[in-house]
Amino acid sequence: MTTRRTFLRSSAASAAAITLAGRAPAKAGPDKLTIGFIGCGGMGKHHLGHLVKHKQLNIAYVCDVDEKRLADAAKIVTGAGHAAVKAEKDLRKVLEDKAVNAVWMATPDHWHAPGAVLAADAGKHVYVEKPCSHNVREGRLMIEAGRRNKVHIQVGTQSRSTPTVAEAMKRLHDGAIGEVLVVKAWNSQKRRNLGHVKPSAPPRELDYDLWQGPVPEAPFYANRVHGMWRFFMDYGAGDMGNDGVHDIDVGVWGMKFATLPNRVASLGGKYFFDDDQEWPDTQYVVCEYDAGNGGPKPRQFIYEQRIWSPYVQEDYENGCAFYGTKGMLVIGHTVGWKLFGERNKPLEQMKGGVDLPAHHQNFIDACLKGEKLTAPAEVGHISASLCHLANISGRLRKTIEFDPTKEAVTNSPDANAMLHRKYRANHWAVPKGV
Ligand SMILES: NC(=O)c1ccc[n+]([C@@H]2O[C@H](COP(=O)([O-])OP(=O)(O)OC[C@H]3O[C@@H](n4cnc5c(N)ncnc54)[C@H](O)[C@@H]3O)[C@@H](O)[C@H]2O)c1
Repeated sequence: MTTRRTFLRSSAASAAAITLAGRAPAKAGPDKLTIGFIGCGGMGKHHLGHLVKHKQLNIAYVCDVDEKRLADAAKIVTGAGHAAVKAEKDLRKVLEDKAVNAVWMATPDHWHAPGAVLAADAGKHVYVEKPCSHNVREGRLMIEAGRRNKVHIQVGTQSRSTPTVAEAMKRLHDGAIGEVLVVKAWNSQKRRNLGHVKPSAPPRELDYDLWQGPVPEAPFYANRVHGMWRFFMDYGAGDMGNDGVHDIDVGVWGMKFATLPNRVASLGGKYFFDDDQEWPDTQYVVCEYDAGNGGPKPRQFIYEQRIWSPYVQEDYENGCAFYGTKGMLVIGHTVGWKLFGERNKPLEQMKGGVDLPAHHQNFIDACLKGEKLTAPAEVGHISASLCHLANISGRLRKTIEFDPTKEAVTNSPDANAMLHRKYRANHWAVPKGV
């Protein structure tokens, strides 16, 4: 493990940009992957708790821009027997090591696509947390980076590898509720007030410059970093892109949506919280798929968000419901599902939590044995971009007409411009091709 002195030295060295493009695709070993783990916060530590025990993984690096979080993660990993793990605060140090076959990324969203594209161009397979992008264009760039480097990119929507949810999908796809024309996902998980905070100096342990990365520089606010960044537009996609995207992704899976919709309308705002967060706490979204866009009839995707309600709806705090011509399937996030027939006749139900280790295993099997990913970037891009399009519609208070083939808005130059983001000029992590 690096000492504090080598840690600081390596950080200074890595301030110089390292060209990562053009590396050969990662060659996985026959039965073991050497990995770097990037972003060791709340979810990062949850992942690590599983990964340190995995017999097919050698954890060579932990990486975080916060020295305290980095040290905690290194302790978890060395404590579990990966004695040679190195602690680095600059992800370029991980990516330049040819021994690393794959990286796990549990950074904030604004780093997902920039980091994943760099990693793919360095020849690493990538497991990247959801939502896989900060905006629509980044998702497409991530797909292209995976394809051009022939590496696997798995997105962290673990329901895709969860057997209980797969059972529900089987019923749906076998026609148990007839023809399904409408799907609704919802998120009513109660959130907290983030307060009103003035700019201040970042804490000593945090390299705030690296934390911001390719995003335009902004003053430090204590309520916009660890865990809270998701509620601010420069860094996240609100709670729709945070927890909502899990159930939106189950909806995409169930409906077999392989493209984005033809039209998106969203209304909402901050009706409840009086604090600094920027995204809506109350939001309603309707997306329309025209006949011919993946099915013979028009279909609808609905999303509801009320992140202030101390009760659940349809029996589940967060979930996804499929409305068919013969019945209804209601899936609760990380809980199970219920199948109803005509006149709400209960037909079947299944309980069971979400299976994160199965999602890890699917990624490992893809890297080592070429097995098919359950949540490749192509899939993650659709789910994440549904959130981004809805947020654009909500911000402009305008129904968006969208061309799913060109991935372009056709009725509003302002909305079309919001498919991209502004980056910090000449930053080394601005995704290639943006
Ligand atoms: N799949 C799930 O069920 C699930 C659940 C929770 C969170 N998540 C996802 O996990 C990710 C992290 O969320 P969180 O709640 O742990 O946030 P967090 O803020 O607690 O953790 C993010 C960590 O990344 C570090 N970081 C930031 N920039 C970095 C960089 N350039 N290099 C290395 N480290 C960097 C931060 O210092 C922080 O420690 C998000 O994408 C979130 O959507 C997924």
